[in-house]
This record gives sequence, C-alpha cells and structure tokens, in this order.
Amino acid sequence: MKWSRRELVKFGGVSALQELLASVPGCNSGKPLPRLLRSNVPLPKKFEAELPRLSVLKPTVTSGVEDRYELRACVSTAKILSDQRTAIWGFDGMFPGPTIEVRSGRQATVAIANDLPVPLVTHVHGGRTPPASDGYPTDLVLPKQGWPAMHMHDPMANIVSGTRNYTFPNAQRAATLWYHDHRMDFTGPQLWKGLAGFYIVRDDEEKLLPLPAGDREVALMICDRSFDADGSFLYPSIQPSLTDRPGVQHEFMGGVLGDVMLVNGAAWPRLYVSNTRYRFRILNASNARHLELALEPGPRLGPVFCQIGSDGGLLERPVIHSRLPIAPAERFDVVIDFSQFAVGDNIVLRNTHASGDLASVMRFDVVRQEADHSSIPERLCNFETLDQKDATTTRFFDFSYGGMEKGWAINGRPFDPSRIDAHPPLNGTELWHFHSDRSHPLHLHLAHFQILAHGGRPRASDAGWKDTISMYAGQTSSVLVKFNGYRGRYVFHCHNLEHEDMAMMGNFEVT
Ligand code: C2O
Ligand code: CU
Repeated sequence: MKWSRRELVKFGGVSALQELLASVPGCNSGKPLPRLLRSNVPLPKKFEAELPRLSVLKPTVTSGVEDRYELRACVSTAKILSDQRTAIWGFDGMFPGPTIEVRSGRQATVAIANDLPVPLVTHVHGGRTPPASDGYPTDLVLPKQGWPAMHMHDPMANIVSGTRNYTFPNAQRAATLWYHDHRMDFTGPQLWKGLAGFYIVRDDEEKLLPLPAGDREVALMICDRSFDADGSFLYPSIQPSLTDRPGVQHEFMGGVLGDVMLVNGAAWPRLYVSNTRYRFRILNASNARHLELALEPGPRLGPVFCQIGSDGGLLERPVIHSRLPIAPAERFDVVIDFSQFAVGDNIVLRNTHASGDLASVMRFDVVRQEADHSSIPERLCNFETLDQKDATTTRFFDFSYGGMEKGWAINGRPFDPSRIDAHPPLNGTELWHFHSDRSHPLHLHLAHFQILAHGGRPRASDAGWKDTISMYAGQTSSVLVKFNGYRGRYVFHCHNLEHEDMAMMGNFEVT
C-alpha cells in the first residue's frame, strides 16, 4: 500500500519528516551530527544525590503457568533538581519505570495501560517476543481518555485503546533487557520524557555462579537529559505536545545530547560501596550519546572492568576492559573490584568521550570494609558460538544519511511498514553486513547475533550474544544472526532515536 504524502503528514507518518526536511533551507549539506542541547536551569551539583534503588514490579497474579503484571504509563513528576520538580512521563509514574524481573522459560503477561495524552507502544528490547507483543511501532495503544479517529496506513497495524496485554514467553537465557516506548516517529521524545525501565531475565545457570549478588548486583541506567526553566525535560520537538507532528528542530536531526548525566534518574549520583566486588548491569539509555566508561582513579592492579555479560546474557569467559565503549541501547554486565581501593577512596565513573561536567557519570565512594565470598569463574556458561559455515544467506545493508529527501535511510530508503527488506527462514542463520556512514547503533528485534568484525577486525567489546551493534563511521560490520523464536514481521533500526524517528528502520519477516 502506498502512502500519499498528504496522508502521511496528516497521520503522522514517516514522510512528514521528509516534508519537514525539504522545507528547511541549508539542511542539505553534509551529514548532521548529534548536538548538545543546553539546559535553561543551573545544572545540579555532582555527586550529591544518592543513586536511586530501582523498585521491582510485583506480579498481581501468579499461577502455575505464568505471572501477570500491570503497568500504567502516566504523567508524573520526579525529584531530580534541587528546587523544582521535573514533569515526566513514566511507567507507574516513575523514571526509570519499575524493574520487571522474570524467570527464563516462565511466561509473563503485562497489561500496560496508557494514561498519557498520546499513543504508546511498549517494546522489550532484547526480548524474544511473538510479533503481536513485540511493540511494532504502529501497534499503538491509544490514550484511555480518547484519541481523534485516525487512519494509520499500515494495513497490519494492530491498534487498541486504553490497555494492551503483552505476552512475554521469556524462552531465552538470563540477560539484562529493557523496555521502552516505541511509538512510530515519536520514540525519541517519548523516551526522553522517561518511558523506560529494566527487564531482567534470570535463570539457574547464572544463579549457580559465585558472582556478586544481592545488594552488590546493581542495574545502572545511564542517560543524558536537558532541563527547561520550569524544571521539565527539554527536547527540541517541532510540536512539543507530540500529538501528530513528528520531528526535531533541524539542527538536532543528527541526534539530541543532554547536558546532565543521569543514572537511574538521578543527576551525577554517588553510590556508597564496600571494598568488595560489585556486579553492574550497565545500560546506555541515551537517545544519541555514546559513552566510553573508565574509572578515575583506576585500580592499583587488576582490571578496571571485568565484563561477564553482553546484551544477550553471560559471555563464555570474562573479558577485561580498561575503557568500555557503550552505544545507545547496548548493555554491558561488568564486575568492578573495589578491594583494589582503600576505604575513603572516591572513584569517578568517567565518560572519556566527553569533556567538562559531561566527562563524569557518577561516583563510587568506598565507605566500609566487608567480607567478599564472590568470585568470577574463568568459564561462565555453556556458550554456543555460531559458525559462518552455517549461514545460508548473505545480506548487505547500507546505513546513511539520504539528504533532505530521505532523512536517515537504510539502503537508500526511508522506513515503510509495508516494505519487507528481508525474509529469513525460522531457525536459520544468516550473515548480515552493515555499512555505516557515521556512528549508528543498530538494533534487531527478536534475533540475537554474534559480531564477526568491524572494518575487518573484531573489538574487545564485541563478545557474546548481541542485539545492538555499535557501528562506526565508514566501516562495514559483519554479524551472524540466528532467527529463532517466532515467525512474523519485526523491525530493525538505528537506536540513535532521532535517526530512528527520522526513518532509519526496516522490516524483516521470519518465514
Ligand atoms: Cu530499543 Cu526497536 O528498540
Ligand atoms: Cu543512526
């Protein structure tokens, strides 16, 4: 089905962006870069807030076959700045939303109600989810309080009002996943307002390991934000109500960078730790900011970060990093050993990609001595390494800026829900090559993959099962993708959310 430009503009389709781009003089030249958006408030002081503990969502019903949960997306406020509250949109009114913790192989049903003034879509990022519950960008949940009649010209869109029941079979390994809004064309601003939380899958294989646990297992959602004079999150939307007109002011079309670093929703927080090992599940939930984490000071001896897991769960063996690059949407599961420090030491988690205030993320204050019975086994799990010989099909995708006509495009074409770009067979393994004109963190729904190389070489941060790959400018990245799970239509897209909203998305259909 073809969308006419008028319909697209009217109904908020992707090409409204193209219309917008075409109307912006001088936006044609060069490839736009992410750009810093300055807050209109004095910035919060660093290392004063305590790292918030994330609350874990309790099931409303637990039966022999599944756990049922309820979540409500609504308008709320958060205490981030010292003298004013920040208006947010959050799951259960919180940012980050409550953590959903599930057991591998045990089904969870989550009824998500939409009390927001706009449509909502929820996707579990990294979840192996049947298509009807995967949060396809046009599978809108319209606001409870009503929404003007609209024609969504995606013939397959499944639109409901008020509440949708999402079914997550959780037939996958233990891993750090996250859930977030995925509304077509509006994911950037809606996530920026706070619609994201952790989704953690646990299993017995991992539970039996002697890794740091309990209070010493901490999920860190790192993201940047900017603040407006009234304390709310500032975002350069064309239409701040986000009702029907997508897009950002043209100078931000390369991506929006905030000038405040938040961890679990607090600005530059500190965490009191004992002089023991801690396990951190680190997520970069920024719209467009790439991180490269380091510790300052570093440990006297021994590794800075000992990586035990990636997007898709445990690695076969730990991987040591002195600096850890994390693109938007990637997760790294790492152990930091604070026995390398003395009680009284303050260790800053740095982002070496940034300067000034933004070069700090949070601080660990070693405040007490404690016994530590944890350890990091040399072999973490039974790991299935994919073999290139098993790839039955090779595909090539180019990710580049298509100028004013196309915005951010894959193989020269902007997103169209009715165009399927690949038809991989269920349970097949394929070799996919991606070429990238600049940094694009590419994410595949459903299918997890293993990275072979970037520009012909592997990186230390490539290990394990991945669902998001950090592609660098001018390189070709190659991955082996395994399409197990479910048949149906899924998206793959750039997770720079401004690129995603500006059409850097495609479909594959598992057949
Ligand atoms: Cu994290 Cu398609 O999303
Ligand atoms: Cu991109």
